[in-house]
Amino acid sequence: MLKKTNASLQNLIKILNDGDFHDGNTLGLQLKMTRSAIWKLIKKLIHYGIHVDSVKGKGYCLREPLILLQQDQIESHLKNATSQIRIFEKLDSTNDYLKMQKNIKTPLFCFAEFQSKGKGRLNRVWYSPFGKNIYFSCRYPFKKDVSELAGLSLVIGLAVIKVLQKWGLNHKLCVKWPNDVYYEAKKLAGILVEIQAESHDCITHAIIGIGMNVNSSQKDQDHISKPWTSLGQILDGYIDRNKLSADLINHLMEYLLEFEEKGLKFFMDEWMNADCLIHRTITLKSAEEEWQGIVQGINAQGQLLLQLSGGGVRAFSSGEVTVVL
Ligand code: BTN
Repeated sequence: MLKKTNASLQNLIKILNDGDFHDGNTLGLQLKMTRSAIWKLIKKLIHYGIHVDSVKGKGYCLREPLILLQQDQIESHLKNATSQIRIFEKLDSTNDYLKMQKNIKTPLFCFAEFQSKGKGRLNRVWYSPFGKNIYFSCRYPFKKDVSELAGLSLVIGLAVIKVLQKWGLNHKLCVKWPNDVYYEAKKLAGILVEIQAESHDCITHAIIGIGMNVNSSQKDQDHISKPWTSLGQILDGYIDRNKLSADLINHLMEYLLEFEEKGLKFFMDEWMNADCLIHRTITLKSAEEEWQGIVQGINAQGQLLLQLSGGGVRAFSSGEVTVVL
């Protein structure tokens, strides 16, 4: 499922965003479309779960603000123009889309307003309602062997933290190994890194997917069982995702370049300051086993170091962490 954001839909939403009612005839004249074409767009919004009030004789009105992602808006805030951006109205998954793009020589970013098969870590689903949050991925070609990318996913978490600090979030913000971003013990963003090595040209492509809860409110996502929050809830207002998306691209590019040159060791202090698991007692669950111990930090490969209850320190590359104490 692949669809670029439709310009008429963008324009319709811009008009409806004033919170007033607009009738089908006037909208048709403004957008140079028939009334039935307007109705089709309205139906599309309703299908995507957007609350559109429709009153006979008055027309249509958006119950909540909605600003879609716009390429020109995002690009106007970018620090350098070395990366390409593609925005889609819907995709299965931005990670899967970028995995299919071949011959990519420079970083390629892809955003979707809606993902029908958004993927989380450990084969989970990433719920991706239309127009609410940020779902994007970056295909980044590293001139490195896959073995040199250990720790990459942790550095991405730090880049996200940096952006959120810029948006005013304080010490309640932290990263939970390997790369979940939490605010007051509630999940705010998740990261999924997938690797594609192309053996013929010694390039390793990282597909870096980031999902950030931005304008979702608890009623939009009441079926998510684990505690979560959104930037809009924390800052108590509607967030225009365009500037935020540009900030994410800018910081991600900065952190990726630094990681490419200097590796994970350059970020060790930053990790220690952002880490919410240090000295906590946790359980770590892998597909086959469960371990309990006290977190001692990470090693040079970004593995989690656990002082096991039975004695000894063991390094883990993956698994799901639950805090006990
Ligand atoms: C997690 O915390 O489990 C990781 C969530 C990653 C979600 C993002 S949304 C954009 C990109 N596309 C996907 O299908 N997943 C990632």
